[in-house]
Amino acid sequence: MTATTPRLKHEVKDLGLAALGRQRIEWAGREMPVLKQIRDRFAKEKPFAGIRLVACSHITTETAHLAIALKAGGADALLIASNPLSTQDDVAASLVADHEIPVFAIKGEDDETYKRHVEIALDHRPNIIIDDGSDVVATLVKDRKNQLSDIIGTTEETTTGIVRLRAMLNDGVLSFPSMNVNDADTKHFFDNRYGTGQSTLDGIIRATNVLLAGKCIVVAGYGWCGKGSALRARGMGGNVIVTEIDPIRAIEAVMDGFRVLPMAEAAPQGDLFITVTGNKHVIRPEHFDVMKDGAMVCNSGHFDIEIDLKSLGAKAKEVKEVRNFTQEYKLPSGKSVIVLGEGRLINLSAAEGHPSAVMDMSFANQALGCEYLVKNKGKLEPGLYSIPEDVDKDIARLKLEAMGIKIDTLTSAQIEYMNSWTSGT
Ligand SMILES: NC(=O)c1ccc[n+]([C@@H]2O[C@H](COP(=O)([O-])OP(=O)(O)OC[C@H]3O[C@@H](n4cnc5c(N)ncnc54)[C@H](O)[C@@H]3O)[C@@H](O)[C@H]2O)c1
Repeated sequence: MTATTPRLKHEVKDLGLAALGRQRIEWAGREMPVLKQIRDRFAKEKPFAGIRLVACSHITTETAHLAIALKAGGADALLIASNPLSTQDDVAASLVADHEIPVFAIKGEDDETYKRHVEIALDHRPNIIIDDGSDVVATLVKDRKNQLSDIIGTTEETTTGIVRLRAMLNDGVLSFPSMNVNDADTKHFFDNRYGTGQSTLDGIIRATNVLLAGKCIVVAGYGWCGKGSALRARGMGGNVIVTEIDPIRAIEAVMDGFRVLPMAEAAPQGDLFITVTGNKHVIRPEHFDVMKDGAMVCNSGHFDIEIDLKSLGAKAKEVKEVRNFTQEYKLPSGKSVIVLGEGRLINLSAAEGHPSAVMDMSFANQALGCEYLVKNKGKLEPGLYSIPEDVDKDIARLKLEAMGIKIDTLTSAQIEYMNSWTSGT
């Protein structure tokens, strides 16, 4: 469905969905006051005048606000989806029709289309890339070396993308600065923890409408996303088991009051499994074999590799769609395993992703990270850069202000005390 409106190339499902998208984007904006302030400033200062920018992100109402802010700042921006199942088609339509932002994303696009969209994004010859999972940056580094000199820098949204960028750095192929948005405190403390926590359960509930109270819920990985998912699963009355490979994270889970078990022991006990590790094959054939009949498995980690669905598919006698985003794999033993959201991010495939209030801070980091790259063009060595601490703190301050929450400030005596070593017992 490639199309050209009078001026704009795009590939979205249906421009007729724009009115609904517009309404939903407006609704999300109510919870995004920090990004709104940034957008108003960008509109005056035009920090991105003359800059070609590509954003590979989940095409949601919140991403729409980021794109609108970047365009207000003068960017020639183009958007593609960072996941084949996460696109909100109405939002994509509104961005094209109402904001004249080219979007190449359709919910349910196949892998080939997804990869073609990555190529289209690179054909835009970006100076700045906002990436979520590092697919665009990895393709640039591998296949578009002739474009490396165009790049001012990139920003990365998620943990898995940061892992890939570190690997590129170790291999000596990262030849430009990249802003580590994920590790900003105002990003992962809130987005990964509370955002993933709430929206993962939201996705499970929308896909299945099952009662969570009383269910044994196994959360694989007790990182930021795992902590949020386990916390919220317990809040819904689940009896939560955590699996980990890191001894410190495992102790943390124990002291937070969760049972910690290896997956082999958790597998026969769980009614519902959530993977959020960023790792591959966390749930494997030997685990499927011992699961209860009707056990449900889903993933909220970045890629659809955490559950070994290939092996499950090879084992299954039959795979049947039993609800939207819900497939039953019938095994030769007579038991079934239920897979939600095809093993892709459940919060974005079956629900709407993170609530706007957390994305307000994540995308404030993205917007300011891009501005930092442009302001420091030519001055930064290749490598991974943290969002500057003062920017991170400013975002938190603006968020608190918008929430109407005041906090204390240090007295001069306290500042003096905190900077001295002479006063002890
Ligand atoms: N669903 C979303 O919207 C969303 C949002 C943010 C991040 N993510 C993604 O979620 C994943 C996790 O992100 P995070 O920020 O929590 O990362 P993290 O690094 O903080 O946590 C991952 C945890 O998984 C553990 N782990 C690794 N392999 C494991 C295994 N085989 N079994 C059990 N535990 C294992 C690690 O020890 C670590 O504690 C990443 O892929 C990230 O990109 C998804």
